[in-house]
Amino acid sequence: MKGSIRRFVCLPIVAGVLALGWGGQLPPAGGNAVVSQAQAQEQGAVPGESVGKTSSSDMWRAVRRGAPGSVSLPDRQTGVLIQSEGDNWRALRNGPMSNYGAWLLGGVLIALAAFFLLRGRIRVDEGFSGRLVERFNNVERFAHWLTASSFIVLGLTGLNMLYGRYFIKPLIGGEAFSAMTLWGKYAHDFVAFAFMVGIVLILVIWVRDNIPNRYDWIWLSKGGGLFSKGVHPPSRKFNAGQKIIFWLVILTGASLSFSGLCLLYPFTFSPFGGTFAFLNLFGFDLPSTLTPMQEMQLTQLWHGILSLVMIAVILAHIYIGSLGMEGAYDAMGSGYVDENWARQHHSVWMQETKETTGGGASPAGAVARKQDD
Ligand code: HEM
Repeated sequence: MKGSIRRFVCLPIVAGVLALGWGGQLPPAGGNAVVSQAQAQEQGAVPGESVGKTSSSDMWRAVRRGAPGSVSLPDRQTGVLIQSEGDNWRALRNGPMSNYGAWLLGGVLIALAAFFLLRGRIRVDEGFSGRLVERFNNVERFAHWLTASSFIVLGLTGLNMLYGRYFIKPLIGGEAFSAMTLWGKYAHDFVAFAFMVGIVLILVIWVRDNIPNRYDWIWLSKGGGLFSKGVHPPSRKFNAGQKIIFWLVILTGASLSFSGLCLLYPFTFSPFGGTFAFLNLFGFDLPSTLTPMQEMQLTQLWHGILSLVMIAVILAHIYIGSLGMEGAYDAMGSGYVDENWARQHHSVWMQETKETTGGGASPAGAVARKQDD
């Protein structure tokens, strides 16, 4: 109620300021008395002269188009009364972005369920040997779980911002939903920093193992053996599929982080104008002069679309790292995997590991150990 009263009072004031801002002048006091209406019209003035030489319909048309008036407030953006791109942004966010995003996530879940039903769990063909080999040390697992747990919090709180009003609000009511979303937003803003630290750590720790090599082409040409039982292309520490996940996490994670910072510190960065100007060098025809508000709107859409794509990719990753593949979770759980698992999925890595540790006897803190130790 208070808000609408304030808006009711402010609107005419800002409209008046805007009218002045377009070079319209208020008539001199008593002006109508000395200049007849006919004379005024000959000079280009509009009858009534309340807004100088600009007719009020022209003025409101310009306001509707988002023309900025002059204001003396420190925030110059208050000079724009109607920012039509705001409507477009809202329509895109609540329309195509939300709809395609829901189809994407739903589609991935259905595809994973279908894959599970058709292919079943990928088993260790020869069964477990009982001998374990260290796959990820404590630092690697810390970096992974820092990235993973923060991403899960970011994903859930982000999805709530986009879809919560449709699914959760009807269940728990408006008041509880608003409190939940507010706390979710705080969590989203703060946990983002843990995610940024996580992706820097995994980049530093794993970049060497994720440089493409000749085994990747073999792995890709055989579909990773995912679709046919008994086929296990050779691989070093990470296979081509994992490298794709790794680089997607790093690149998408970096762009998500930067766009997130742009949203967290509004109007501080202008990522799109420069990017569009650069793309225009290659024949694109994108608007490179954007207002700070348009920059924010594009940044929000970019952040949302990227996060939906990344959630879809990570859903597939979580599936294959847990339910989808026997023995895989242990790699990140305890840090040790069964030797038969390692030979089946990462034969070259297993071979190299055996060679560096002299066939299994592990020096302190190193590679292989017996399961019953
Ligand atoms: C509950 C969720 C998750 C589970 C169960 C899980 C499981 C795993 C496992 C088992 C591995 C090692 C695979 C191997 O031994 O070769 C792995 C690796 C990895 N995980 Fe996760 N993960 C989860 C969430 C995430 C999330 C949210 C991210 C990123 C945002 C992530 C990023 C990675 C990356 C980059 C690797 C290395 C490359 C790869 O194996 O694909 N993980 N994860």
